[in-house]
Amino acid sequence: MLKIAEFHEPNRKLVGRTVWHYDHVESTNETAKELLEEDLEEGLVLWADRQAAGRGRQGRAWASPLGGLYFSVILRPKETHAWILGLLAGMPVVKALRHFGVFAGLKYPNDAVYQDRKIAGILSEGVYRRDIYHVIIGIGVNTNVDLDRLPPDVQATATTLKREVNLFVANDEFLDYLLNQIDDLYSRYRNTRIEFLIKDYRGQCTTIGKRVTATTSKGAVTGRAYDIAPNGALIIMDDANAKHEFVEGSLKVVP
Ligand code: BTN
Repeated sequence: MLKIAEFHEPNRKLVGRTVWHYDHVESTNETAKELLEEDLEEGLVLWADRQAAGRGRQGRAWASPLGGLYFSVILRPKETHAWILGLLAGMPVVKALRHFGVFAGLKYPNDAVYQDRKIAGILSEGVYRRDIYHVIIGIGVNTNVDLDRLPPDVQATATTLKREVNLFVANDEFLDYLLNQIDDLYSRYRNTRIEFLIKDYRGQCTTIGKRVTATTSKGAVTGRAYDIAPNGALIIMDDANAKHEFVEGSLKVVP
């Protein structure tokens, strides 16, 4: 683990005022957790060029070869909102991808997908340190990666910015734009009611209206993705018109 640079952007409100850049780490989320023992400023970003043990949701691995963008943001929200913040963070990611030319959609809960292929993912974790609640939002974007550098089992369902856009986009440029968007989102989160943000999220979630199969520890449900509940859950209406709330598990869009 080698820290190679530190950047400052004092014009930001909170997120990304300071960015620590590493050449490689095990996982930026894990590095963030280790550093929480120290007194860190809220909004600090840890960015790595590679991860040896990148982690995804539900215990999956996140392939992190050189060329992709991997970072974590450290937040200290007043409420225990790790999951909601992770959900909302999908919006700035999709916005950044669109800005750089990939017309991505937001698949519930927070995957950025383009033509049914995943291009970015988010792992948000809530942790207590010395009685203070922290949220670590880890974001991975397949930016300048060739598809064949990703594991064979994900190649059919993944894509990269490099593959979809002819123009070269440097990771620092993408990160700069994305951090501005996350900074704006977090300030809205702190100043407006969460219902408004959930409504925005609902408007941007491209899963709504589609037929899906949700698999959780309790079993599988197939039906139409119908709405986002005030708590952020996806409401699925099954074929017998019964409603089910889905929060965590795997979600597939089906024909
Ligand atoms: C997912 O879609 O399963 C979430 C992927 C999250 C990957 C990012 S990369 C930066 C941060 N560090 C990690 O180990 N994971 C997240």
